[in-house]
Amino acid sequence: MNILAIESSCDDTAAAVVRDGREVLSSVVASQVFRHVEFGGVVPEIAGRMHCEAISRVVREAMEQSGIDLRGIDAIAVTAYPGLIGSLLVGVNFAKGLALTAGKPLIPVHHLRGHIAANYISHPDLQPPFLCLVVSGGHSHIVEVRGYTDMRIIGRTRDDAAGEAFDKTARTMGLPYPGGVHMDKLAEDGDPNAFTFPVPKVSGSPYDFSFSGLKTAVINTIHNMQQKGLEVPRADMAASVRQSVVNILTDRFLLAARDTGHTKLVLAGGVSANSLLRRRMNEICAEGGYELYYPALSLCGDNAAMIGAQGYYEFLNGTAADMSLNARAERSIEINA
Ligand code: KG4
Ligand code: ZN
Repeated sequence: MNILAIESSCDDTAAAVVRDGREVLSSVVASQVFRHVEFGGVVPEIAGRMHCEAISRVVREAMEQSGIDLRGIDAIAVTAYPGLIGSLLVGVNFAKGLALTAGKPLIPVHHLRGHIAANYISHPDLQPPFLCLVVSGGHSHIVEVRGYTDMRIIGRTRDDAAGEAFDKTARTMGLPYPGGVHMDKLAEDGDPNAFTFPVPKVSGSPYDFSFSGLKTAVINTIHNMQQKGLEVPRADMAASVRQSVVNILTDRFLLAARDTGHTKLVLAGGVSANSLLRRRMNEICAEGGYELYYPALSLCGDNAAMIGAQGYYEFLNGTAADMSLNARAERSIEINA
């Protein structure tokens, strides 16, 4: 089964053709980051307009690169939630128009389910159940993936997402948007023990995260140093922040794994590209006897191939939308369409 998938939830316009949920026939991603970088973050109005300009070219390129024409497409999958509403609407409306005119089924896909499904492409043998740490720019969850379309949130962030924690602290350090990737590179040359930041206490669920205390501590440390006329050692600061974020994530994730009894652990989302998170998880899993999976670097960030992968399993589960499909800025990963 060939699925044409479309993704436009944030600042990447993407289209892909995916066969049977696992084989990527084409994948095109048009990044807008060069426009948003001057504002230090995504400007929703600009993002929506740029998706509008790019979407038909991106879909055409994905179709051409796949080597099959529209007659060979069995369904159209699209990210319908969550994300920036003005961005999502562009992809959803384009997909609706195409599904209607070409007479194809329309499959709405949850963006975070897509991030998880990136792993099915990188690991053709991976099957649920497993425990997944989903860490992106907008969301951070520990998700129990009981089946391809059966998910339970075990833990979540109480404030910022992990990617946001990286981006906001990176901005304070004067690094360009998106800060996570720049901080990761800079951190490789720094001392992770140069600065110590408070370990957050989150009451209620032992698997929930919090990053606001870390963010405030980093901002205060940098401002104090600047006020005293001291130069902030950026690589040391980056390495210390990265270590703190990764410690928070891995502690909660491992606790959830122990308590739920899952032995298959999976990373997903933009932050799963983080080199320390991957190294640390590799060490922990080798010691603890866990199986570890994470997507190829090219599939960690936003792309449409992952939407095509999840779209396949949503379709098999009977998920289909009609022309009343609407985009939503918020939606739980647990809800089936
Ligand atoms: O999943 P994603 O591409 O978009 C959303 O769905 O939000 O995630 C983007 C986030 C950004 O916050 C970015 O800074 C972060 O992923 N990111 C990283 C790295 N690469 C991307 N964070 C830490 N280390 C990285 N290597
Ligand atoms: Zn994403």
